[in-house]
Order: sequence, then C-alpha cells, then structure tokens
Amino acid sequence: MEQTIFDIAIDRRSPTPLFRQIHAALSTSIVDGRLPAGARLPASRALAEQLHLSRTVVVAAYEQLLAEGYATGRIGSGTYVAPDLPERPRGRALVVKARGAMGYAAPRLAGKVDVTLQGDDRPFNLGRTLIDQRTFDQWRRLNARALRAMPKSHLGYGDPRGSVELRGAIAAYLGSARGVRCDAEQIIVTSGTQHALDLVVRVLLPVGSEAWVEDPGYPLTREVLAAGGVATRPLRVDAQGIDVAAGVAAAPRARAAFITPSHQFPTGVVLSMARRLELIAWASASDAWIVEDDYASEFRYGGRPLAALQGLDTAERTIYIGTLNKALFPGLRAGYLVVPEPLLPAFVTTRYLMDRQPPALQQEVLAEFITDGHLSSHIRRMRTRYRDQRDHLVAALQRRAGDRLDVERPDQGMHLVAHLRPGLSDAAIERTALANGVVVRALSKLYVKAKPRQGLLLGFSGYPAAAIAGAAGRLAALLQRPRLLS
Ligand SMILES: Cc1ncc(COP(=O)(O)O)c(C=O)c1O
Repeated sequence: MEQTIFDIAIDRRSPTPLFRQIHAALSTSIVDGRLPAGARLPASRALAEQLHLSRTVVVAAYEQLLAEGYATGRIGSGTYVAPDLPERPRGRALVVKARGAMGYAAPRLAGKVDVTLQGDDRPFNLGRTLIDQRTFDQWRRLNARALRAMPKSHLGYGDPRGSVELRGAIAAYLGSARGVRCDAEQIIVTSGTQHALDLVVRVLLPVGSEAWVEDPGYPLTREVLAAGGVATRPLRVDAQGIDVAAGVAAAPRARAAFITPSHQFPTGVVLSMARRLELIAWASASDAWIVEDDYASEFRYGGRPLAALQGLDTAERTIYIGTLNKALFPGLRAGYLVVPEPLLPAFVTTRYLMDRQPPALQQEVLAEFITDGHLSSHIRRMRTRYRDQRDHLVAALQRRAGDRLDVERPDQGMHLVAHLRPGLSDAAIERTALANGVVVRALSKLYVKAKPRQGLLLGFSGYPAAAIAGAAGRLAALLQRPRLLS
C-alpha cells in the first residue's frame, strides 16, 4: 500500500528499508529545491503518524539527514533544511549539466557498439569457440584445487604486470609457438586484446596524433583510437596485406600502425615478408610503433602457424598483443602485451592506475594450464575440430548457395568470407538473416575509405557440424529471396 505525504511515497513491499525511503524522498526534495534552505521539516512524531509508521523509523531517517548535512537542528526540538545549501537549478537545467559533465569521448562513442549482438551465440557469430570435455575437466580441476588451497598470495596486491608464474608460462609459450622474442619481464597480462589496445593508446598516442589502420579492418581498433582522440589513417589491404608504401606516402608522421599480420581481419590475408620488412624500416626510421594484434593465429590448418612479426623486429618497435580469449574462450577475459623494455615503466604505471593488477585466482589456474601443457594440447585438438567445421561450412555453402556466393576456404582463423555474386547486398542479407536466427556480418561495413566488397563473414569455430548444417540451410534458403538485391 502506498501513502503520500509531503511528497513521500512509502512502499511497504519494497526491499528498501522504510527509513531509507523517507531519507531518499526528503534528500531528493532538498537537492532539487522543493524543500528550500531553512524550511522546517515536519515533527518526527507527526510525520510518523501521518505515514502510519513507528516514530523510530522517521527518527532514523532524520538522523541520517542530519549526519549527511542535509538538515540541521535537533530531533525533538525542530529539524530544518540546512540554511547554507547553494541554490540548485531545477528540471531541465540539471539534465543539461549532467550531459556537459560526461567524459570527452562519450558523445562520440554513444551507440557505437551493438552490445545485443555481442551476447548472441547463434551461428555464425564471430570469435566463438568450443571447449571439449577434456579441457572442461582440466579447467574445473585446476580451479577447484586453487580454491581449496587459497594461498595468501590470492588475498593481497601483486605485480601489476601479473604473476611471475603466468608471465613465465606465457613467455615460454610465445617463444616456442609464435616466434616472439621476449622474457617474462616484458609481459603485461591484460583482460584481452581490447584492454591491451586501450593501454597502447593511452601510453603511446597523444590526443591529436595519427595512426595507420587496415582498410577493411577491425572496428574495435578504430573505436578505441577514436576514444583516445587519435585520428585514423585507413590504408588499403591487398593480397599482400596493408599497403605500407601508401602509408609512407600519405601519412609518414603517423605515430603507430595497428595491424593483424598473421591473419588480417577480416580478409584473412597474411602480411608478406616484403611488407613486414618495409613496415619495420618505416617504424625504425620515424620512431613510430607497430602494434601487432596476433589474434587467432594459433589456428592454422594448412601447416605450422606463421611466426609473429615481433620476432623479426630487431629494432624493437613492435608492441605485440596476444589473446587467450580465442585460444580458450571469450568469457575468460585474458590476454597479454609484450612491450619493449624502455616502454615498460609507462605501461606498468598506466595499467596500475587503471585497475592495479589481474585477478589472482585466474592467473594461478591459467599458469598451471599452460605449464602443464594443456593449452598446447587444447589448441591442437581444437585445430582439428575447427578445420572440420570449416570444411563442413564450405561444403554446405557451396552445395546450397554456390550460385549466390563465392566461398573462400581460409587457411587460418575462425571465420570465412563468402563474397556475394553481383547485385546482392550484404547489409540486407545481414538484417534478414538475423531476423531468421542466423548471424552473418556484412563485409562492406568493415571498410572505411577503400572500395567496399560485398561479402559475408561467417564464424565457424563456435558451432558443431550439426548446427552449421542447419544454419547454412536457412541462410541458403533466404539468399534466394529477391529482396536481398542491392
Ligand atoms: C581482430 C581481432 N583481434 C582481437 C580479437 C579478440 O579480442 P579479445 O581478446 O578482446 O576478446 C578479436 C575478436 O573478435 C578480433 O577480431
């Protein structure tokens, strides 16, 4: 039942204690000026009677208002709204003020990321993974063991870079699996690529500076640069990867190049050796940085994974970013940066100011998972599985939609690109497919300045063959609809 007096609505069924409800109503009225400075509040006994509450409840609310400085006086002999509160603007003015108070990036970023799609698990969403029973069991066992032991080291503060055990395990893994040259001192554990990109922008790129990005490219890299006030220079991607010569000609003074050399997102192109060397030469000559996003490089199906660019760079201009959110699962939120030694103090301090350090429990589990060899063996098993899923998807699309799509069989990664036959619109297909329970991403939306190609991105890593067959069938059926023409 609700009763109103003096603008106070009491809800007896609410989990909020009654004294808090009274306090909230009165303090809000004081802040927005409905109860002016110096006004006398009703006597606690009278208010209690009118609200049919015990007086102790009202007294508790008044005591809180007195303690917080909203009111002065003494309960029993008169409680008043504090006389020295500044006048408040009313209504709309407050809203405008609140807007003005937002961080400088907020207006530019509002609405940029579609978080509803992030949660969508339906085929063929990108970046989803599978874990098998073996990994599931090992992961649970290591977690249970760490929780049971709960050593003192889990309870306090630690190294902002992450635990020495985890950094050591990552350094050994990177040396053998990715050809990255580093020791544990240079590693900073992050919550994944996104966190690492954000750190790089904060530490290395002043507001108003410029950075090269791939075109087409990863939108979240562009967004994090925009959030940091950095201008992006999109450079065309061709069969050899990002066009370095075009960057040198058009924006030689850029501070950094953000690239995905092992498996360009979204095209899947590998950056050629000639371009790698060109890029390193430009970065060394102009004191610029190469930011290497080495996502999903573990999953190469036609041979051994290609070595990372960082291992080639003797000039130490490369910041390497790796993620475990693809090798294991996105909900893990774990990744790392490998930073040239001279940059370490700035990176470590910045990380510390952001969130101090990574969580201790997860680090212990991950360190053991990697050192016990479970990560490498998980990757080997998933490589076989994802390759089979890729083949299923390619075969299903060729069989059922071969007249509409040119499907590329990628040698690497977790998604494929299907180019559309002339006349079809990828954005229209994306919309219609989503309404029909199939997630595809329009390739053309990932272009900035370069001439967009019409195509669909389909993630295959997160879905078993049966799910792939069903969704591919639905997609093929809707591709026959005439409305999807551009
Ligand atoms: C180009 C690229 N880099 C990195 C990632 C991984 O991001 P995170 O580690 O933040 O999950 C993705 C995931 O989709 C990606 O597409």
